[in-house]
Amino acid sequence: MNTRTLLITGAGSGLGRGLSLCLAQQGHTILATDLHLEAAQETAAQIETTGGSAHAHALDVTSEKSIQCFLSELGDIKIDVLVNNAGLQHVAAIEEFSIEKWDLLMSVLLRGTFLMTRAVLPAMRAQGFGRVIHIGSIHSLIASPYKSAYTAAKHALIGFSKTLALETGDADITSNTICPAYLRTPLVEAQIKDQARTRGLSEDEVIDRVMLAPMPKKAFITFEEVAAAIEYLISPLARNVTGQTITMDGGWTAQ
Ligand SMILES: NC(=O)c1ccc[n+]([C@@H]2O[C@H](COP(=O)([O-])OP(=O)(O)OC[C@H]3O[C@@H](n4cnc5c(N)ncnc54)[C@H](O)[C@@H]3O)[C@@H](O)[C@H]2O)c1
Repeated sequence: MNTRTLLITGAGSGLGRGLSLCLAQQGHTILATDLHLEAAQETAAQIETTGGSAHAHALDVTSEKSIQCFLSELGDIKIDVLVNNAGLQHVAAIEEFSIEKWDLLMSVLLRGTFLMTRAVLPAMRAQGFGRVIHIGSIHSLIASPYKSAYTAAKHALIGFSKTLALETGDADITSNTICPAYLRTPLVEAQIKDQARTRGLSEDEVIDRVMLAPMPKKAFITFEEVAAAIEYLISPLARNVTGQTITMDGGWTAQ
């Protein structure tokens, strides 16, 4: 089996931590990075406890300075795979959506993806291998009310990923977007609370009537399922899969 070195952004919580743990179990080395160093360190510690290999680093994807600082800390370590996972959500009607929140979501979800990709691409080209995986969302494909910035940024990610796929057609580098529906992470726990407030529902009603309602399978997506998609995309047999989206939505967009 080919084991790889994966740089995962936002690896201190939720999906980023879950992916780090799952992929480390498969023998890959994880560069667990997060805005919050202690959170990344906790992820790396959990990986090491189970015999895996991990390094923790502070990394703010919106800051070129932070990215350069991280790259200089790496020394000889080569990044085979970049997983653009860092993210956040803000739920509000457009008329009430604060400009600061709009700019923050765009900055982390979109600018951060661009800055990270731009920073690692030259080394991927030099080593003749690279996989860039963007964590999109069901909101890369459909919209929900009150999630204007998130939906706009996640839709834009697909355009960015396709452009990257075209620009890297001459190398063994691919770019793909994984679009999961809801995962049970702190980001979603916060949304359940926010949506309950915005829609005047109980938290259980938000889960049943809003979140899982459009999914024929009526189940949250798991970290293991997303990790399995990544495992495929980073394998040599996926070298011709590029510029694509892998949608994990329990049948949501089949309707
Ligand atoms: N939870 C879901 O249902 C769901 C569904 C589809 C897609 N996603 C996507 O999965 C990704 C992870 O979401 P999550 O649910 O695990 O959220 P989370 O809030 O649990 O974790 C997000 C992590 O990103 C980090 N982060 C935020 N800003 C950052 C920055 N500027 N630089 C580096 N790290 C930063 C946070 O510190 C945190 O550790 C996001 O891109 C999200 O849009 C989540």
